[in-house]
Amino acid sequence: MGYPSAHDDAAFATRQVHAGESDDAAFGARITPIYLSAGFRFDDFAEARDRFAGEAEGYVYTRSGNPTNAALERRIAGLEGGRDAVVVASGQAALTVSVLSVVGAGDHVLSAQSIYSGTRSLFSQAFGRLGIEVEFIDDPRDLGEWRRRLRPTTRALYTESIANPTNEVADLAGIAAVAHQAGVPLIVDNTLATPYLVRPIEHGADLVVHSASKFLSGHGAALGGVIIDAGTFDWAARPGAYPHLTRPDDALHGRSYVEAHGDHALTAYVREVTGALFGPVLSPVNAFLIQQGIETLSLRVQRQSSTALEIAAWLERQPEVRRVDYAGLASHPSHDLTARYLPRGAGAVLAFEIEGGEASASVFYDAVDLFSRMSHIGDARSLILHPATTTHAHLDRATRERGRITGGLLRLSIGLEEPDDLIRDLERGFAAVRVAHDVDAIDTDVRVTEGSTR
Ligand SMILES: Cc1ncc(COP(=O)(O)O)c(C=O)c1O
Repeated sequence: MGYPSAHDDAAFATRQVHAGESDDAAFGARITPIYLSAGFRFDDFAEARDRFAGEAEGYVYTRSGNPTNAALERRIAGLEGGRDAVVVASGQAALTVSVLSVVGAGDHVLSAQSIYSGTRSLFSQAFGRLGIEVEFIDDPRDLGEWRRRLRPTTRALYTESIANPTNEVADLAGIAAVAHQAGVPLIVDNTLATPYLVRPIEHGADLVVHSASKFLSGHGAALGGVIIDAGTFDWAARPGAYPHLTRPDDALHGRSYVEAHGDHALTAYVREVTGALFGPVLSPVNAFLIQQGIETLSLRVQRQSSTALEIAAWLERQPEVRRVDYAGLASHPSHDLTARYLPRGAGAVLAFEIEGGEASASVFYDAVDLFSRMSHIGDARSLILHPATTTHAHLDRATRERGRITGGLLRLSIGLEEPDDLIRDLERGFAAVRVAHDVDAIDTDVRVTEGSTR
């Protein structure tokens, strides 16, 4: 069910409003309606049998497919340059389903060190209990380390295109080359970059995942996730490496997923097994909202990236700021990779470390007014988070420090507000920190003075 070829060669801005669209023969509705129906009626006995067998066109039950969801799948596959896509209930569901569609108990996965904290917990806690070992690469820029840590049981490599929240940019082509030499696929979480800034499949990724709750949706209203399959990985090349896709399967009358579905094998497995049976189905209402969001994706991401760069540069000039993690800055260690992979901008998420650690960060956090204090990114509104006491609080100190999540680190997700208004709000934060320091200094002076007169 690949996405239609109409407008394939059009520019991104055109495709984000047209890719994958289909005509509504019944009423001529211009946008895909919300098909809020649990299941779909069969005309007769034979049609029910044939739809279940995949031999007749049409939907069966929304857990395994729905027209509103399918329109979104075609659009995202089109924008990422994938063969096909499957939408699921959240970004976490997309990660779970994508990795469990590739690996099983006893398998090994290599992942970049600096990744979204929820993904890290999924990998080290939840997958660990299932017998899947995920190992974290200390220096993801070192392709030699990726190569050295491969094992005979390694079945996938994983990275984020732009890491949340430290902004490291992945050397997608380099990591993909290591993966392919070893005969394993590269899975890339492209949430922070979006397909407007980078399309990992063009650089060798085999599967791309998104939290569609962020920039794709764009307005903080709906959770969703998506798995995009490039359709180019050869699952049968290494005998026995991906047996669930290459061995005869009863559900396919003795054929394997590769034999039955060719370059759709992985997507078919997601639709029929990991997605449909684990069951994290996306509500068609959310699919509709995400589709609406995607139609303005390039406009939002362009504007948010340029405001983020302006704010990052401004933060870098503030005396209270120790460092700014924004890949668009020349000072960021990933800047060379930004120039290579992200020529349109480095996205809307940045982090900065304020002098004075957690004490200063908490005063700053409470003083801002326009920035919403929230654990979310990719919204039209600007958001602020203190990772060390929230999203990353459960990690041990050493892991936090390896991920550069210090007490003074604050993460910002830049929205669509006027940059000057945002800067004024951040100034409020710094002013509050200065006042708090002055009060502390006075308190200390008083204590010292009182101590010396006693
Ligand atoms: C990079 C990344 N991947 C995945 C997720 C999880 O997405 P969701 O919240 O939609 O489950 C997040 C959430 O913040 C994220 O930032």
